[in-house]
Amino acid sequence: MNINWYPGHMKKTRESIEKSLTLVDIVFELIDARIPISSRNPIIDNILGNKPRIVILNKSDLASEEGNKLWEEYFFKKGLKVVCIDALSGNGIDRLIRLSNQLYEEKKQNYEKRGVISRPIRAMILGIPNVGKSTLINTLAKKKSAKTGNKPGITKSNQWIKTKSNLELLDTPGILWPKFEDKQVGLNLAFTGAIKDEILDRETLALKLIETLAKNFPNLLKSRYNVEIIDKTYLEIMEEIGRKRGALVKGGEIDYSKVSNIVLDEFRKGVIGRITLEYPEE
Ligand code: G4P
Repeated sequence: MNINWYPGHMKKTRESIEKSLTLVDIVFELIDARIPISSRNPIIDNILGNKPRIVILNKSDLASEEGNKLWEEYFFKKGLKVVCIDALSGNGIDRLIRLSNQLYEEKKQNYEKRGVISRPIRAMILGIPNVGKSTLINTLAKKKSAKTGNKPGITKSNQWIKTKSNLELLDTPGILWPKFEDKQVGLNLAFTGAIKDEILDRETLALKLIETLAKNFPNLLKSRYNVEIIDKTYLEIMEEIGRKRGALVKGGEIDYSKVSNIVLDEFRKGVIGRITLEYPEE
């Protein structure tokens, strides 16, 4: 299991996030659209309390459209604001900005009633490692207009990243620890690359992924690798993929390390297909 998160480390992280929360108006809770359960921090609700937040299903380009829709409905029904985005391409970012404005509207009106000129919305990004926090910051920051903060006499603060929209981001995202308790959660995090091969060696992990795909997405596996999967063990499927892809060592033996890398990398890049591994429970 991931050994970077000691209880002491978690406590410190929590305290520092709680401090930062006092500085912001809203929180962007980033989760992975392929594994919305596994990629949520276990105590996020506890940490956030009533702080206005938007649940962001990132990497939605890698998840199935049906899954994205069901998860949006799920969080919406829970009374949370939710949006699917692809932080890399910027898809969904405009909607995220609109939702942020909606959430902030009440506060803004209060300011205006008191005759105070309201300032931009201040937000912080929270999420487990590798979920796309830095990518989102970069994409939002690119929307920044060239002149902002460059006027003489205006001190540029390091703490806030200005964007072109009415939004400022805390420059360091809050990095939360993932759940580790459940074996399936650990596997999901490892499949998607959220934890880098810490729980299993790559070959065992790839075999587990092949098992998951053969059980739940047989057609995607078949068509990507042109393999038959009926009446085969998962190891045999892996070996056939190896042969088809020329992952062989001298003498024609399967290069298990190479075939494992192929399957894991292609899954993580979405090449096998857009796959949502977790669906909301009824
Ligand atoms: P973090 O700050 O939360 O740790 O995550 P970061 O932004 O570094 O993103 C982790 C990886 O996920 C990066 O890939 C990034 O390009 C990719 N990524 C982020 N958002 C999206 C998205 O919406 N769609 C897709 N397809 N990919 C996204 P990387 O640089 O290749 O890193 P790695 O996977 O080799 O670690």
